[in-house]
Amino acid sequence: MDDGVNNQHVIMDEIEEARSSDTGLRTEDCLGVELSDPSIVVIVGATGDLTARKLVPALFNLYLNDGLPDSFRIVGCGRTKLNDQQFRKKMEKALMAKGIMDNSKLQAFSDVLHYQSVDYGELYSFINLAKFLRKLDKKHKTQGNKFFYLALPPSLYKPVAQMLGQAGLSEERENNNGWSRLVIEKPFGRDLKTAVELNQSIQKYFKEHQIFRIDHYLAKETVQNVLMFRFANAIFEPSWNRRYIDHVNILSSETLGVEHRAGYYEQAGVIRDMFQNHMMQLLALTAMEAPSQFETGRVRDEKVKVFRSLRPFPVEKFTEYIVLGQYGKGKINGEPVPGYREEPGISPDSLTPTFAKMKVFIDNWRWQGVPFFLTSGKRLAKKITEITIQFKEIPHSMFRQTLGEHIDANKLTLGIYPDEKVTLTFQTKVPGARVCLRSVNMDFSYHQNYTGPILDAYEKVLIDCMLGDQMLFWRQDSLENCWSFLTPILNECETCGNRAEKLQIYEPGSWGPRALGNI
Ligand code: BG6
Repeated sequence: MDDGVNNQHVIMDEIEEARSSDTGLRTEDCLGVELSDPSIVVIVGATGDLTARKLVPALFNLYLNDGLPDSFRIVGCGRTKLNDQQFRKKMEKALMAKGIMDNSKLQAFSDVLHYQSVDYGELYSFINLAKFLRKLDKKHKTQGNKFFYLALPPSLYKPVAQMLGQAGLSEERENNNGWSRLVIEKPFGRDLKTAVELNQSIQKYFKEHQIFRIDHYLAKETVQNVLMFRFANAIFEPSWNRRYIDHVNILSSETLGVEHRAGYYEQAGVIRDMFQNHMMQLLALTAMEAPSQFETGRVRDEKVKVFRSLRPFPVEKFTEYIVLGQYGKGKINGEPVPGYREEPGISPDSLTPTFAKMKVFIDNWRWQGVPFFLTSGKRLAKKITEITIQFKEIPHSMFRQTLGEHIDANKLTLGIYPDEKVTLTFQTKVPGARVCLRSVNMDFSYHQNYTGPILDAYEKVLIDCMLGDQMLFWRQDSLENCWSFLTPILNECETCGNRAEKLQIYEPGSWGPRALGNI
């Protein structure tokens, strides 16, 4: 064979290899469940909605996919007095309501469930719980490992963590043996002061490595993909900065209203509900530097640097940096919907914002002068979550005589919901004799060529708690830095004399307040 033919073969082989290449990992390896230790998950608040709607279905799905360790028990705790059988029936009913009918598996799963009633204000109740867990541990050989999932109203986080601690349930044996973990959901406080207090009181008993503060956005595949996309590809990084990027939009819009959560939402509003968690995490993933290793501590270090670099919000120029809205009465998809103030449990003169658009700057070399627009609201036109990188226009157009000066700039969209895809928009020639340009899209759909199992956000969270992997959870310093940024905004929204003027009523099914001002 002559050299030319040989070379041709080498090139063809390379192309073939490139075509068929993937990471070579089996799907089971990507699921990563075989590593988790024998353990007991204790759901505190087990008769509530979250347990029936999310936690037990997620545990059941993991069970169906062999995602739980062989030695594993689930203990529900709550104020209601139930025995194991009653709790099992309740959970079976909840699973069946979700359409799960696989009776043989359901029965076997049900046998793993136990129940222990507790009085949240009584130490003896937690001492009994500790005794019960020791008995289960001995019988089912769970090696002293346990995690406590607080499916409770936030006002109970502090007292329950304290009771668990005083009953000795936060203690771990040396070298991470017999681990004990605490899992809590947002809200972690309602401003900087309360967040610091909550952290301090929990940390009296649980150390930071034992605390798992959930942000369900981080458990979404497409959110995790932001780091893979940015740092496993060489071609985007050189343009990922102020030289090439004009601005960044981070959007999380919803069509739903406040639903049955009036009590919580009236106190929270959109800034606490969506910004002090999901929006800030999306911002950090978009803006952070590459850590030297994909390792929990280092990834979380880079995120906290972003939060520390947030330019303090100029409250004196409030309306130039933020727009607040509240949905009025109207129609969504032709269906009449009540205004926020007419929703059950909402005060008729409520000034709680259900929409916010905020302009944020990050004061570092990479991002100096690049605005990040964060937008989130309820009862908007469509449910969309996406990050859009809007690149700058070309510096000079050689087509200006025929096409004018303006040519649409490139745009990169990282779709999180409903389109789980990456889309790059660029210019091409329109076929034909005349010189005409058009914007076209190059799409990558996230599930393209993938047929394996997909973990729902709660399944991912539960697996990571069992594995002790805190990568996708909030660390104390990040949390407090975000509160430092948002607390002055909240103070201005909630304590200024002209609160009502700062809030615009918007039509349901629209994209928010008409007057988005200059921001
Ligand atoms: C929750 C908020 O954290 O996130 C809700 O409390 C919001 O108000 C929800 O609806 C949105 O989550 P997702 O996954 O549907 O975008």
